[in-house]
Amino acid sequence: MLPWKVLDTAPVPGGRKELRLKQRGKEFVIMLDKQELMSSYLSVTEKALATFGCETIKTREKPRVLIGGLGMGYTLQATLKVLGDKAEVLVAELVPAVVKWARGPLAHITDGSLDDPRVAVHEIDVGELIRGKKSAYDAILLDVDNGPDGLTRSANDALYDMAGLAAAHQALRKGGVLAVWSSTPDAKFTARLKKAGFTVKEFPLRANGPHGGAKHFIWTATKAG
Ligand SMILES: C[S@@+](CC[C@H](N)C(=O)[O-])C[C@H]1O[C@@H](n2cnc3c(N)ncnc32)[C@H](O)[C@@H]1O
Repeated sequence: MLPWKVLDTAPVPGGRKELRLKQRGKEFVIMLDKQELMSSYLSVTEKALATFGCETIKTREKPRVLIGGLGMGYTLQATLKVLGDKAEVLVAELVPAVVKWARGPLAHITDGSLDDPRVAVHEIDVGELIRGKKSAYDAILLDVDNGPDGLTRSANDALYDMAGLAAAHQALRKGGVLAVWSSTPDAKFTARLKKAGFTVKEFPLRANGPHGGAKHFIWTATKAG
């Protein structure tokens, strides 16, 4: 079997961990220290985050969608596929090197999506594009940790606590959707979403779709319309 090759490493701003881009043949992974954050061979549920999150808002006149974070850009590509020409898609990526990788060794995967005229990429904590915003987005698609828990860095907890969910609720337009990716269900998070005023749907999924694989989980949380 081919050995893994480390292509680059980058510190997580405001955190203690490091991201690592590795390659083995045609496969790429982004590691968070020793934990896999994203693999080029597993993208079904990252794409589902976009299709589920945009399902009810995709036909709006000029939908405005915020994605955090970029990773390998599968959620971004799936978002662009379901939205029309007038859409605006903001991508918030905390680690600048991830954007560099997306334009460099992963360019064959991101396939020009960062340069789509509908897209604006911000090298920033996604929380900064949520907190203090009012009726700014039709959907917020969050896949920055392995679930609603600050794995990448502890400050990410602020995205999932009551204050963070209240900020997301305020940042959404009427009928807007907060969609969150996770590797596991989390009943306490479901309860917090409901307490924040959202109508919640839960989607247990498999990493390889109909072919099985690891269990993943997505919440869609809809603001009253
Ligand atoms: C699991 S990957 C995202 C995978 C992505 N959904 C895809 O389709 O490839 C998580 C990404 O979120 C980024 N990230 C972590 N915390 C963040 C934050 N607070 N704001 C923005 N991006 C963040 C990480 O650097 C990483 O690129």
